[in-house]
Amino acid sequence: MSLLFSKTTLGPLALQNRLVMAPMTRSRAIGNVPNDLMAKYYAQHASAGLIITEGTSPSPNGLGYARIPGSFSAAQAEGWRRVTEAVRPGGAKMFMQLMHCGRVAHALNLPAGARVLGPSAVAAAGEMYTDAQGMKPNAVPEEMTGADITTAIGEFAQAAKYAVAAGFDGIELHGANGYLIEQFIRPSSNRRSDRYGGSIENRARFVLEVADAVIGAVGKDKVGIRLSPFGVFNDMPAYASMEADYTYLARQLNVAGLLYIHLVDHSSMGAPAVPDSMKATFRDEFKRTLILSGGYDAARAESDLAAGKCDLVAVARPFLANPDLVARWKSSAAVNAPDPGTFYTPGAKGYTDYPALAG
Ligand SMILES: Cc1cc2nc3c(=O)[nH]c(=O)nc-3n(C[C@H](O)[C@H](O)[C@H](O)COP(=O)(O)O)c2cc1C
Repeated sequence: MSLLFSKTTLGPLALQNRLVMAPMTRSRAIGNVPNDLMAKYYAQHASAGLIITEGTSPSPNGLGYARIPGSFSAAQAEGWRRVTEAVRPGGAKMFMQLMHCGRVAHALNLPAGARVLGPSAVAAAGEMYTDAQGMKPNAVPEEMTGADITTAIGEFAQAAKYAVAAGFDGIELHGANGYLIEQFIRPSSNRRSDRYGGSIENRARFVLEVADAVIGAVGKDKVGIRLSPFGVFNDMPAYASMEADYTYLARQLNVAGLLYIHLVDHSSMGAPAVPDSMKATFRDEFKRTLILSGGYDAARAESDLAAGKCDLVAVARPFLANPDLVARWKSSAAVNAPDPGTFYTPGAKGYTDYPALAG
């Protein structure tokens, strides 16, 4: 019997299966507002157990990439409401991923008046695509003041309220892949000497305060988090106390009572693997739902679920190219290959035109 395709629960939510559509930035939100093309895209994927949206900024300051959506205005909330309404008949539950890009940004991608912020004035190595001028080096962020930190925490809480009002079942804090929350966690990007920098207790303070504020806004059954221990994406180098730091985080997030932790392992994309010991630590320390992701096919998903390594499995690229992935994997049908050339380009091509199974 398949575990992957059997019903389960996520806190109080009933899921139609254990397959999660992983968050994927697709850069189709012209003007940073969700639109009907996005509603169509998400509705095509509604046979998942859970859909986690593309990274969505809680603040104008967090819109690091071109054409990513936000959750800080009434127009965005209305656009998202149309998305959740389109998805609901297909049965998937839906969480919004809140992604504040922080220093992984360029001013050309930000609306007038917005600021590139980070825990410290240290740029991420690498370049950022802008619609106006093509590739540009990542910006040097402004070091956030205490007031900036308080504002950002409030923006996460308000964005979560907008999301729930727009019909989402909850939100996922993007604490992975080198964005603002991880910029606070990691010592290479956080050089602060105040209560938000230095020891892991201090570097974890921002994420834990964001989690508490968002839980205060929408309730703990509606808040999950994505983390990437050992991840190096966006100039986040390995360091000696990585495993100890993330063990601390697993414990504290368990105390905070979040609904789920969603771990990223990007070894399928050429990054260092997350050691099995680290995944086991999260399983032991965190008592609610654990989601694993990265490089899964149906067979590996079944075997990790059967071994009790996780409760749900999240899949990105196979879902991107196969909106009916559940039906395909169930019937061992052939799958479409993803086209990286259209991952982030505007319009329907490579977005809503991947063919579904015939008949
Ligand atoms: C086009 C694309 C966009 C992505 N955008 C996000 C994102 O917005 N937030 C995030 O947490 N991960 C993002 N990821 C990472 C995926 O969620 C996932 O962790 C990664 O692709 C590995 O899973 P896979 O092997 O199933 O593709 C993105 C991946 C791809 C391919």
